[in-house]
Amino acid sequence: MVIERELLLPSFRRFRRLRRTETLRALVRETRLEPTDFIYPLFVTHGKGLREPIGSMPGQFRLSPDQLMAEAHELRSLGVRAVLLFGLPAAKDEVGSEAYADDGIVQQAITAFKDAAPDIAVFTDVCLCEYTSHGHCGVVHGGEVDNDASLELLARTAVSHARAGADVVAPSDMMDGRVAAIRAALDAEGLATTPILAYAAKFASAFYGPFREAVDSAPQFGDRRGYQMDPANGREALAELMEDALEGADMLMVKPALPYLDLLAAAREMADRPLAAYQVSGEYAMLKAAAANGWLDERAAALEALTSIKRAGADLIITYYAKEAARWAG
Ligand code: PBG
Repeated sequence: MVIERELLLPSFRRFRRLRRTETLRALVRETRLEPTDFIYPLFVTHGKGLREPIGSMPGQFRLSPDQLMAEAHELRSLGVRAVLLFGLPAAKDEVGSEAYADDGIVQQAITAFKDAAPDIAVFTDVCLCEYTSHGHCGVVHGGEVDNDASLELLARTAVSHARAGADVVAPSDMMDGRVAAIRAALDAEGLATTPILAYAAKFASAFYGPFREAVDSAPQFGDRRGYQMDPANGREALAELMEDALEGADMLMVKPALPYLDLLAAAREMADRPLAAYQVSGEYAMLKAAAANGWLDERAAALEALTSIKRAGADLIITYYAKEAARWAG
């Protein structure tokens, strides 16, 4: 009887044997999330005692520098070891002056944060769009973002962040040659030990919408498609990653994350640098909105998205879910 059945069945592999219990599943799990995988973005604003909720990003706030100590303690207790700072300036102008001011909001926040938590790495977003009156990531000349004229200001911004104590500077502007310009400026200023995380393949994405509300950085004319990448271009993304590595980037980033997992996987194959992925504001907002409506199990969906990003090849994930995910995964 038994022999007869075996003869009838084709030979096949029983994958389900190792899926039978949670213990077995855990033993053969290939990808695990850990709190040290995450970099938590923070929005810092001038003032005291401020903790303003960001409407389109539930659970995220604009914080005044005095709030950073509590934030640092919470992150440490969760095992999250890195933050990425964004600033809201007191005033905007044509050339984004506060981006590279010694007493700018990010410079103040770096000092406050490092005082509170020297053991947590402070990454800073190096860009002009939060600081310029026109909302573009570089200087505007004759209605166009002037690449080469922007490089000097971006380099000044990176130097001033590094001087204030930033552990890593992360240019997100997408001007050509900015990694080389920033590396040269840091080295010339005695900051040769400050690493650069390049937003190397950064796409002109609709998924940045909530972020632009958070920091009021939407361009006042036109859009960012003249410098950020066309979402349709994969080969070009790999060229951008390669170029930033050649210019001296210590770490590379693909941004956004979930819609660009193919490029993350390709970058992992190609690049020898640590690779970061940015799960951006729109990716976060989608999950939050669906969860608020009861349409998704938030915890399961968020952990699934983050696991996919890591499985595709990210060593580090910049995510607004850092705290919750550290709690869930830890
Ligand atoms: C600055 C910058 C942006 C983001 C990170 N750095 C906005 C943009 O390029 O328009 C987006 C982050 C997010 O959506 O979470 N240039």
